[in-house]
Amino acid sequence: MYKILRKETITPSALLIEVADERAKLVKPGQYALLQLGDDSEPIPLSFLDINESSYTFLVEVVGKTTLEIFELLEDRIKFIEAPCGSPFPLRSYGKVLLVSKNWGIAPLINVGRALKEERNKIYFIHVGENEEKVFLTEKASEFSEDFLLFTEDGSKGEEGNTNWAVRFFIENFGKPDLIVSAGGNLDSQMVSEIAKEKGISHIAMVNAHILDANGLCLACRILVDGSEKLACVDGPWFDGTKVNWDYAIQKELFYKEEEKRALKEFMRQLQRLKARKK
Ligand SMILES: Cc1cc2nc3c(=O)[nH]c(=O)nc-3n(C[C@H](O)[C@H](O)[C@H](O)COP(=O)(O)OP(=O)(O)OC[C@H]3O[C@@H](n4cnc5c(N)ncnc54)[C@H](O)[C@@H]3O)c2cc1C
Ligand code: FES
Repeated sequence: MYKILRKETITPSALLIEVADERAKLVKPGQYALLQLGDDSEPIPLSFLDINESSYTFLVEVVGKTTLEIFELLEDRIKFIEAPCGSPFPLRSYGKVLLVSKNWGIAPLINVGRALKEERNKIYFIHVGENEEKVFLTEKASEFSEDFLLFTEDGSKGEEGNTNWAVRFFIENFGKPDLIVSAGGNLDSQMVSEIAKEKGISHIAMVNAHILDANGLCLACRILVDGSEKLACVDGPWFDGTKVNWDYAIQKELFYKEEEKRALKEFMRQLQRLKARKK
């Protein structure tokens, strides 16, 4: 069992949780953890946001059953955490770096961005939210960035625009970066990779794959990079975005959509019954 030190609702569908764990000392920038709320919950991967001596913080954005379960039912303990997981981000001096996050992708990019700044890179940050509910942590992201640009796809906050539009706007107005780093959505990273290839810019992307055990045994998270099979959980989550087969990754992500919808519907019914009983 892991103790929750802080739980803060930051938008109607996002939460920050700080967990006490001595393994915090072992965490390197860009890694993630596998969290399981209770015995009957599914384990899900979450990226480290802030890392302290003996605690760390996660951003949880509600997208389906398990994230809603954490949002609604998390109390003062978490049953199981595997940490740290995955390969750290390849830190070095790249020069001018553009970070591009979609929705929850802002959490890993704040974590990686701070470390890239320490390596004397010049950091620019674009956050694209689906809508204003998906805009969070903007102050933290601005702290280490030369410029922070905010877009929402429906124009409810910041400028209206999607990832493709935002990155092209940046290149026209701020010039070409040496590296683009993206996280938060495979479709968005695919858009970034196309621009990166067209303009000859390096691209490192976090690939979203279904992560079940995070230790390379179940093979659920297989993706294709440069024609070879890679395991997103241990070889990644960071890969050369221009070499990832994004169509394959996106197709695999959509495979469980119907089951995910059904699980969410069923959980919402259970939640209603639970809330009615509490009243
Ligand atoms: C390396 C990595 C780091 C991540 N970091 C964060 C983070 O810091 N904050 C955050 O809010 N979200 C993060 N995510 C996404 C988060 O893991 C998913 O949103 C979550 O698993 C969805 O579960 P669900 O039951 O709520 O939704 P579901 O309805 O089950 O799934 C919704 C979508 O989430 C993805 N997903 C579902 N199950 C998994 C799984 N086991 N592993 C990976 N993706 C899954 C799929 O794209 C799916 O279509 C991260 C994902 C990865 C791969
Ligand atoms: S999650 Fe099982 S091998 Fe990657």
